[in-house]
Amino acid sequence: MQRYYLTTPIYYVNANPHLGHAYTTIAADVAARHMRQRGADVFFLTGTDEHGSKVARAAEREGVEPQAFVDRVSSVFRQLAHDVNATNDFFIRTSDAEHEAFVQRFVERMKDAGDIYESTYAGLYCTGCEAFYTDADLVDGRCPQHGTVPEHLEERNWFFRLSAYADRLLARYEAAPEFVLPRVRANEARAFIEGGLEDISLSRASIEWGVPVPWDSGQTIYVWIDALINYASALTYARPGDDLTARYWPPRWQMLGKDILKFHAVIWPAMLMSAGLALPDQLLIHGYLTVRDAKMSKSVGNVLDPFLVIDRYGLDALRYYLLRDVRFGGDGDVSYERVHARYNQELANDLGNLVSRTVAMIGRYREGVVPGGTTDSTVAAAIISAAEQFAARVDRLELTDAIDAAWQVVRDLNRFVEDRAPWTLAKETTRAVELDNVLYTLADGIRAVAVILASAMPDACARVLATLGAPPGVAWSQAAPGLLAALAVTQPAGPLFPRIDDALGA
Ligand code: MSP
Repeated sequence: MQRYYLTTPIYYVNANPHLGHAYTTIAADVAARHMRQRGADVFFLTGTDEHGSKVARAAEREGVEPQAFVDRVSSVFRQLAHDVNATNDFFIRTSDAEHEAFVQRFVERMKDAGDIYESTYAGLYCTGCEAFYTDADLVDGRCPQHGTVPEHLEERNWFFRLSAYADRLLARYEAAPEFVLPRVRANEARAFIEGGLEDISLSRASIEWGVPVPWDSGQTIYVWIDALINYASALTYARPGDDLTARYWPPRWQMLGKDILKFHAVIWPAMLMSAGLALPDQLLIHGYLTVRDAKMSKSVGNVLDPFLVIDRYGLDALRYYLLRDVRFGGDGDVSYERVHARYNQELANDLGNLVSRTVAMIGRYREGVVPGGTTDSTVAAAIISAAEQFAARVDRLELTDAIDAAWQVVRDLNRFVEDRAPWTLAKETTRAVELDNVLYTLADGIRAVAVILASAMPDACARVLATLGAPPGVAWSQAAPGLLAALAVTQPAGPLFPRIDDALGA
């Protein structure tokens, strides 16, 4: 059986989540659900990154202890994962005692490998990024991500000999050209390595809110080192008494935004080499959700509220919109207007109407019972091809194109209804067999589309199957034509995606 360990970044709990965080979690969830449909043994991890100065300062601003603060905000992220219907198998928190102990063992291994030494760091630090910068990294003296002036730091630190790994990292990129996708991000990481790697701080002297360095209690482990290790620590305690490492390590897919490429594509693999662990198979890097071309972020204050969208249009509309409107991998502008337009055009009209018309015609002409028949050969071929393409595209994490492949069948079925005009056939008793075949083709085609799209829109697809009287299972073997049982009894329900007139934010 194929094993798929799949991760999202763990999110900072300095502020509440926004649509950008929901985006990565939803995309990973689609991949996880889809691979389960195909029979893979999947472990899907998400969680929160809770240490470091950024979080400690946020707690201080609220005048609460860091632990109480992270408990509260982490629970909002956990709720978001739940509210977007993410099927994560565990939710890790870096303040978990098991994680902290694991981090200490991990850095001990790096030290045993001879990769850690003591020195003085003198340079710049951006708390927003929790990252060390050189003058050359800055834009007009400011952090390229946050536009803030970084602090000058000078302190004794433990260092990780990252520079020693440049050749081994490049060898990995050479040997596994798809280690990082899309290719442009792999090139960026390679260029960075080729530009010369410097050793990095592995600890901080002045930050108390973190995991103590095991051999030096005056220092805590740098938050990024601590955070990256979550992907390995989680497997050791997600199921008490059952270490899942042998079963799932290394990760098959690690998904993240391009903002944290360097940490994942350079530092993380070097840390794994140092500790003697296998490297992930693939890092999948997506772009930014933007609002009027600026990265959506809490500090810029241009966020779209996922909870508002879910309230107005429903969760599956949000999932669909994010995958469909922003080509996965690139940047994309999002807005309430665009959510609204896609919802009414594609979900309410193309898909929703197709389902209601079909069920209504089966009700009117065949007393609500799906007649025996055969799926039209053109539609059958379209279903086979859509299922193949959907799977192949998810394999490359081309999620937008995957959805598009499934939508082709929706478009074909809409054309098929118009061409065959069942309402005309129904008027001629001699054409009853033809009408049976048309109705069967529509019901069976919609069923197959619902199976194909179940990872993207789990609730809506379950409703479609129930409406058609089809069994609820979405195993990938069902993503094929001709599998709807004749005499299935349809269960007419309200519209799948009722038309909505008022846009949000209008
Ligand atoms: N805590 C670190 C990650 C540690 S992983 C070992 C961190 N956290 S974060 O809260 O800032 O989340 C960053 C991630 O959230 C991005 O990589 C991306 O997955 C997601 N996004 C946050 N804002 C986003 C957009 N505007 N657009 C797309 N994704 C966004 O970095």
